[in-house]
Amino acid sequence: MTGAPALAGQHPEYMVRQLERFAGADADDPYRRRSTTMAHTIVGLPRSQWRRVAEALSAQDCAFHGNAELTTLTPNQCASCHGARGLSGDPAVPNLAGQDIRYLYYQYQKLREPFLPDIPGIEKSNQPQRLHPVMGPLAAQLTDGVVSILQYYSKLPCR
Ligand code: HEC
Repeated sequence: MTGAPALAGQHPEYMVRQLERFAGADADDPYRRRSTTMAHTIVGLPRSQWRRVAEALSAQDCAFHGNAELTTLTPNQCASCHGARGLSGDPAVPNLAGQDIRYLYYQYQKLREPFLPDIPGIEKSNQPQRLHPVMGPLAAQLTDGVVSILQYYSKLPCR
């Protein structure tokens, strides 16, 4: 689906955490995330199975096996958290390696402007909203270089 994330190689803990946010959508939650698609999906998925499902999705083969030619990134304000090769050491920080470029770009925009309306090419029924106290302010400092950083990450192997 356009705008849906690749989950192969993603930290299962991160996925479970995001499911909690989609399920809660509590107005006071500073990390809240809202998506019609995800809200419907969660209804049919008992909480007791989230971890197991997340582990199975994480264990999938990388959809894209990466570009071995890519070495390291030039300007990297992102590597301290997301890793020089897009693999983070902290399960609270998502891996960006091998992620769908449209997803990366769109989420980056959402984190920057949490109430950004739908953009063309993204599911109409999906009206996501995303707030994050750390990544939000960081994304607000959007620079021209970010697009190439996101492109770089999307071309790396997912694990
Ligand atoms: C201080 C640590 C930190 C730095 C530096 C950082 N990020 Fe993040 N980023 C995070 C965290 C934490 C999240 C997860 C937010 C959440 O849980 O909703 C995140 C989420 C994201 C996401 C959403 C990914 C997904 O799977 O949903 C993107 C895209 C992203 N960051 C891009 C960047 C880029 C590009 C940079 C550099 C300009 C950057 N980040 C720098 C901590 C950081």
